[in-house]
Amino acid sequence: MDRPKKRDVLRAVNSMSSLCENGKKKEGIRAVNSMCSISKLTDEDLLSRLLDRPRLKLERKISYEEMSLSLYDSAHSLDGKSGWDTPVFSMKDSMDRNPMVTEAWEALCQSQVYFRGKPVGTIAAYDHASEEVLNYDQVFVRDFVPSALAFLMNGEPEIVKNFLLKTLHIQGQDKMIDKFKLGDGAMPASFKVLHNPIKKTDTIIADFGESAIGRVAPVDSGFWWIILLRAYTKSTGDHSLAERPECQKGMRLILSLCLSEGFDTFPTLLCADGCSMVDRRMGIYGYPIEIQALFFMALRSALSMLKHDSEGKEFMEKIVKRLHALSFHMRSYFWLDFQQLNDIYRYKTEEYSHTAVNKFNVIPDSIPDWIFDFMPLRGGYFVGNVSPARMDFRWFALGNCIAILSSLATPEQSMAIMDLIEARWEELVGEMPLKICYPAMESHEWGIVTGCDPKNTRWSYHNGGSWPVLLWLLTAASIKTGRPQIARRAIELAEARLLKDGWPEYYDGKSGRFIGKQARKSQTWSIAGYLVAKMMMDDPTHVGMISMEEEKHMKPPLRRSSSWT
Ligand code: GLC
Repeated sequence: MDRPKKRDVLRAVNSMSSLCENGKKKEGIRAVNSMCSISKLTDEDLLSRLLDRPRLKLERKISYEEMSLSLYDSAHSLDGKSGWDTPVFSMKDSMDRNPMVTEAWEALCQSQVYFRGKPVGTIAAYDHASEEVLNYDQVFVRDFVPSALAFLMNGEPEIVKNFLLKTLHIQGQDKMIDKFKLGDGAMPASFKVLHNPIKKTDTIIADFGESAIGRVAPVDSGFWWIILLRAYTKSTGDHSLAERPECQKGMRLILSLCLSEGFDTFPTLLCADGCSMVDRRMGIYGYPIEIQALFFMALRSALSMLKHDSEGKEFMEKIVKRLHALSFHMRSYFWLDFQQLNDIYRYKTEEYSHTAVNKFNVIPDSIPDWIFDFMPLRGGYFVGNVSPARMDFRWFALGNCIAILSSLATPEQSMAIMDLIEARWEELVGEMPLKICYPAMESHEWGIVTGCDPKNTRWSYHNGGSWPVLLWLLTAASIKTGRPQIARRAIELAEARLLKDGWPEYYDGKSGRFIGKQARKSQTWSIAGYLVAKMMMDDPTHVGMISMEEEKHMKPPLRRSSSWT
């Protein structure tokens, strides 16, 4: 199919306006992006596509160099070899006409939360039917990320900017849990806007973990905040927000929390159980992959945005050192493939001194049975956790996808992760993308590890449940690794159920067939995750907002097996 002529594109663009303006969905907004097949795009085409995007609301200050850079980050990161010419990948021109997309946009627009007349985020779930609201009527930092990306991709950066500034302001509050004061850099898990119709005032109450079930502070919030600031900057070309003194300070405060020296012998970040998306006790205390991957991505994002002033430079030096050590540690000790599993299986224990091969003294008898069948000959992944005599072999979706997007994984490791997803499709994707982790814990282990949590029974919720929000991460990782057919299959599965089922928060069961026992409906990040996945498939250059190329100094220290090559 021919590319649309620039004149036609401009005409189309001029007739469009913001999708969520006045809370109404405007038709025709995606017309431009759905007209040509990706396999026919040249670099020049890509560049002009990026320029042609319907972002009239923005005063774009983006330079040619930046544009090329963002193209490089997304297009080039398709690994050169297979990205653009993957034959299976041709874009559907269905974005406008797809009723599911229309409904999703309407629902996303409805979920917006206003503070003094300005949109500042999206509510976690708009579930009127549910008797218990709990804290689902709040704006969660992590939940807002896919909403923010959807708005950015659609040329609506205002809500994202407002959110970044509002949460930054909240960061500045005094944070007390009983008589203990949390670190200055801590970002909230969520916040709520209270409207007083009589006094006509809006106030905000935030939760830093002091109200959350389990009282855990969200380590991921600060990382997502930095990652989102980069996405905003890349998408709009507006560097002035990140350069503001308050944003620079906010970044430094978050970084101080995780770069401070302590008793650590590892560059990974020591965490309490439940401090991320999995916000209940699930045996992920220690060094969970979910946090390590976000930590890595946030460090790299901050490095690209910190000012080269004296304070900024001090942090930049620390970041560079930490990134170097962190990538070595993760790539060496968290990576598991057939060869590595076989090595661990044959490990000697109780080794002393620097020459130890089994550095963490993992006892081979602690390897769970399931992994021997699960591990394919081709493929690999970053395991859930590594600490003394404890390797959590579970597979976690978010950490592995973020590892691909941030280039914590080498290109070979990224390919191996996608190989594993393909090889273990039934287990990891099943009937609803994507399992939050695999496998589920059952019986005695479930009792001990979760503390008999009735919400986290086997194959439910965080314990092997399937979360539609993860679709956007899988899609971004598939596009970055040049394997969009994986995303396409997953999106088709989601399209068969999500709207019909009312956008549930999660699904239950070994293959994710059942709507989750206690799942909310109209869960905003399920809606936004779907939209982001669709928009990235429609225009893969969007992936550049959230993806990063490998740095030369982070090249892998060792090669472990044939699945890497
Ligand atoms: C649940 C999820 C958490 C999410 C929150 C709001 O607590 O475990 O990840 O942020 O709901 O949707």
